[in-house]
Amino acid sequence: MTTGTQSPMPAARRLEGRVAVVTGAARGIGRGIAARLAAEGAHVVVADIDAAGAAQVAAGLGGGALAVRVDIADAASVAALAAAVEARFGRCEILVNNAAILDALSVDAMTFETYRRVIDINQDGAIRVTLALLPLVRRGGQGRRILNIASIQGMRGARDSLAYATAKGAIVNFTRSLACDLADDGIVVNALAPGFIDTDMAQLPDGSGHEHETDWFRDIYLKYGRIPLRRAGLPDDIAGPAFFLCSDDARYVTGQILLVDGGVSATF
Ligand SMILES: NC(=O)c1ccc[n+]([C@@H]2O[C@H](COP(=O)([O-])OP(=O)(O)OC[C@H]3O[C@@H](n4cnc5c(N)ncnc54)[C@H](O)[C@@H]3O)[C@@H](O)[C@H]2O)c1
Repeated sequence: MTTGTQSPMPAARRLEGRVAVVTGAARGIGRGIAARLAAEGAHVVVADIDAAGAAQVAAGLGGGALAVRVDIADAASVAALAAAVEARFGRCEILVNNAAILDALSVDAMTFETYRRVIDINQDGAIRVTLALLPLVRRGGQGRRILNIASIQGMRGARDSLAYATAKGAIVNFTRSLACDLADDGIVVNALAPGFIDTDMAQLPDGSGHEHETDWFRDIYLKYGRIPLRRAGLPDDIAGPAFFLCSDDARYVTGQILLVDGGVSATF
């Protein structure tokens, strides 16, 4: 018995006219969030290292969506993203720091270089983008929001995920501290921590398929209920809670980490 994946209620355009920058929006969770924010009336900037994918997503969104190629590990590229947003909109109400990569390396397999690469994208990349876009967010109108996409691996330790989990842990406390710093500006800052979500990131490193299709995943997470809702999540399962944290309804929520994980973190 699984909980259904019914379509959400039709969007009510509660973000009409707001400018939303979503990094890593060419696919997966970022694409799902971008689609939801656009359906709610936001002008979405689809920012991704995959220029062709970003252009395709932006073309499908309509509503003045803009595609920008950005490498969040590269300061000049991030400065160019900020310049592109400024030139087109002059402001930004919503920033979603979503872009990241996955390593799957234990302490013995990891080198300092592979560790630094993950930190440079998943941790420093989000901070780099935030600092570059903050002047535009400060210039924004109603409903200014920064949403960081963390992970359940930022809340607990995880085997074979040393750099990734370290970076996501940093994102969690970056979120809390930034929320304190920006509270007087009226900018609300939160993080969303997904559990196991069905995206390209969950492909097995050897290309043999999806982690969620393996026997061990089915046994541990589904059959024995390590995921109480007994299924991997979909990008749409993240898009709704992300929309909430970007909406006016989240005006008194700041510095919080919302776990959207089918209940994984509720069990032991
Ligand atoms: N899929 C999961 O199970 C899961 C679980 C917890 C957290 N997350 C987090 O959710 C977010 C989205 O993950 P996803 O599953 O959609 O991954 P994904 O791999 O499907 O998508 C990641 C996107 O980020 C882009 N990207 C990668 N490096 C970039 C860079 N240097 N600059 C700009 N863009 C870059 C990619 O091109 C891609 O479009 C990430 O922060 C990830 O850590 C995912």
